[in-house]
Amino acid sequence: MKLSCTGCGRTYPARIILYRCPECDALLELIHPEKTFSRKHAWKGTGVWRYAPLLPTKPLVTLGEGNTGLHLCENLGIPPVHVKHEGENPTGSFKDRGMTVGIAWAKKLGATTVACASTGNTAASLAAYAARARMRAIVLIPSGNVAMGKIAQALVHGAKVIQVDGNFDDAMRLVQQTDAYLLNSINPFRLEGQKTLAFEVCEALGRAPDTLVLPMGNAGNISAIWKGFKEWKAAGLISKLPKMIGVQAAGANPIVRTLRGRKKSCRVSRPETVATAIRIGAPINWTKAIAAIRESGGDAVTVTDREILSAQKLLAEKEGLFVEPASAAPIAHLRKKKRRGLVVCVATGHGLKDPEVILRGKPKFVTIRPDLKSLQRVL
Ligand code: F0G
Repeated sequence: MKLSCTGCGRTYPARIILYRCPECDALLELIHPEKTFSRKHAWKGTGVWRYAPLLPTKPLVTLGEGNTGLHLCENLGIPPVHVKHEGENPTGSFKDRGMTVGIAWAKKLGATTVACASTGNTAASLAAYAARARMRAIVLIPSGNVAMGKIAQALVHGAKVIQVDGNFDDAMRLVQQTDAYLLNSINPFRLEGQKTLAFEVCEALGRAPDTLVLPMGNAGNISAIWKGFKEWKAAGLISKLPKMIGVQAAGANPIVRTLRGRKKSCRVSRPETVATAIRIGAPINWTKAIAAIRESGGDAVTVTDREILSAQKLLAEKEGLFVEPASAAPIAHLRKKKRRGLVVCVATGHGLKDPEVILRGKPKFVTIRPDLKSLQRVL
């Protein structure tokens, strides 16, 4: 097992703490020995650790992550689509898949303090897993733009929560200057856990989907899941790979702009969207994400805040799935553009993370006197 540079191809021992190539500054990824892939009948149990032969460590710290539902949705006014509901993870988002592996690796390295910058979900997940591993957690969040549920989670698990008077990109820049073990998606070990979503989808469908649609923020998840599909193919378990479609909010769409050739560097200076989870202007993993999109023949697309909120409501009302705004972005996209074949959307986080967004939208309920007549009048 080695760390390999995605820029110059140099390799480094996995046990060195590195987030970028010391020679060319490009992102790193973990390369497994070929023999790991030949142990393809070794899958045991359910969830992330079912795929231990393709992961860098044993399950040292776990809360029972992965094994989330793949829900066939036929009532959305679009061709049937499968929704992988990552809100079913222990802390309510896909981050737990990565955190269980990232924290296990931190433990192996003997780290005592772990840190991240976060729009909320990484913070919640890091806080929970650090508590379980008896480590100190430090989380930097942008001030005023993190959903309350996520802050509550980070606090209740005992993390040191620091609000940065700036946006996520400022927090990300800052946290990289600390000495703590970093568990943002710049950490290749975290992405190893997140790739297991691809394995679960392939096992559930008996093949890879034709298209996988997911929201993009710091762009770690699209990179991780694409790596997962490629590894599953390398293990001889699927013959075809899916197209990867990354969805961004109109006010925070650096990857869309870069892909369309309108920008040289991947950056939006003042990102803005109701989907605070993906309110990111300078995604750390943009080179990996663009590679995933190009290699897969996919695309990066934009949806507006209004389209996101409408898709969130539709998914809740017609299918019983409550997801947070960022997680509704793929459905918002599919309502605008028909995609042929077997389509899987990743709903990345639970709606309960951000109840304020629902209550802000003039909820319709009435108050009555506690008698039957009053009740009958409003029914
Ligand atoms: N959906 C949700 C609910 C998220 O919380 C995030 C990222 C994404 C999508 C985008 O994933 O960054 O891998 O492209 N949240 C991070 C956080 C940035 O700090 O919780 P990505």
